[in-house]
Amino acid sequence: MTPTRTRSRSQELFERAQRSLIEGVNSPSRGSAVFAGGPLMIERGRGSRVWDADGNEYVDFLMSFGALIHGHAHPVLVSAVSQAVAEGSHFASATSAEVEAAERFRGMVPSAEVVRFTNSGSEATMLALRLARAHTGRTKFLKFEGHYHGWYDPYLLNAHSHPPETLGSAESPARIPDSEGIPSSTFAEVVLVPWNDVGALERVMKKHGRELAAVITEPIMANMGCIPPRDGYLERLRDVTRQWGALLILDEVVTGFRYAPGGCQEYYRIQPDISTFGKALGAGFPVGAVAGPRLLLNRMQWGSGMVLHYGTFNGHRLTMKVIAANLDLLAADHNAAYDKLHALGDCAITGLREVFKKRKVRAIVQGLGPMFQIYFTDRDAIHDYRDYCTWVDTGKYSRFVHALLDLGIYMTPSNGLHWIISTAHTQADIAALIDAGDRACAELS
Ligand SMILES: Cc1ncc(COP(=O)(O)O)c(C=O)c1O
Repeated sequence: MTPTRTRSRSQELFERAQRSLIEGVNSPSRGSAVFAGGPLMIERGRGSRVWDADGNEYVDFLMSFGALIHGHAHPVLVSAVSQAVAEGSHFASATSAEVEAAERFRGMVPSAEVVRFTNSGSEATMLALRLARAHTGRTKFLKFEGHYHGWYDPYLLNAHSHPPETLGSAESPARIPDSEGIPSSTFAEVVLVPWNDVGALERVMKKHGRELAAVITEPIMANMGCIPPRDGYLERLRDVTRQWGALLILDEVVTGFRYAPGGCQEYYRIQPDISTFGKALGAGFPVGAVAGPRLLLNRMQWGSGMVLHYGTFNGHRLTMKVIAANLDLLAADHNAAYDKLHALGDCAITGLREVFKKRKVRAIVQGLGPMFQIYFTDRDAIHDYRDYCTWVDTGKYSRFVHALLDLGIYMTPSNGLHWIISTAHTQADIAALIDAGDRACAELS
């Protein structure tokens, strides 16, 4: 397709960036590993729109990897931050700001008797595992193939996709580290299993259940696109973890405050022992959280035998102010924001499915309301990591997204992420996406 937009200023800036930053970015998911020819340099955002360094306007469906639940520069959040920063950004003492954020959090998340704020989702999942190990006195834990829980050492096993011939069997999965620099002894503590497969889960729990401190899962597999749990899967997971005395850590970093006020634990009615949050909680500010029963989180109380959790910026005052304002916006008018997120997302999903059908493009749109993904595949559904690695044409998806960029739709070309709906999106934005999708299909074929 002939690019309709000039991106020369982005190109220049990206070349300059590469002289000072590794690959020109601060996280590989933003650089030329995913953007052919280099990423756009985004300079400004408002509502559902962003503008790049060349002044091109886009409707943003990446929304800062899901963090921007209210889009860019929401006036209520801008005002909360502006006032707070003028008063002093952070005191690292106890503040009323963290009390207000925590009270609202507890009011929305059913399993949150108490909450501890961290600075990122990775810090939250790291703390959750430490708590689980301390509480159970066990060291092993179970993670699922294809689930990403942040960049803490023990979680970095099979979190990336790989060619199907390298995966081993479902009964005995190949254990593929996602990073150099992690001792193999770290992974000796990790039991690895395919997700969404009750038989595999029951087999492994029978063998290892009594050694496990925890089973950690995303409620919707969000780092191989968007893969919902099969009917009854999360319920069974809850049962077997109870049966073997392993804690269930529900990683809601992506799904929290997105699917329902109480995240997927409310949406699917699952009671985790510990849950972790990030992204949408901070509405664009860096934060994570660990929530659960007081009995468990009390292990962080100072004294001998405590679980240590320090952090200069924990409970950062600006972020806490943003969280309180964010959660008030989400809860306003009896949680009306969630009706909007679901309605708009469902409309986008239906519209894109119709486009693919009309254009006779073999693609499916998978997900629910606020978050979904497009897979170019012959399959009717993608149920797990192995399906994703085997049946999804990620190269075609990348070409599709590059075509959309030229049509004013901003999204990452990485198929492992997902489309995000924010409260700032409108019906007109969804119509623009469907129209651009239609034109991009014409170009693809
Ligand atoms: C499910 C899940 N857990 C944890 C994390 C880590 O969060 P953060 O990037 O804030 O460290 C992510 C990040 O994408 C995630 O998707």
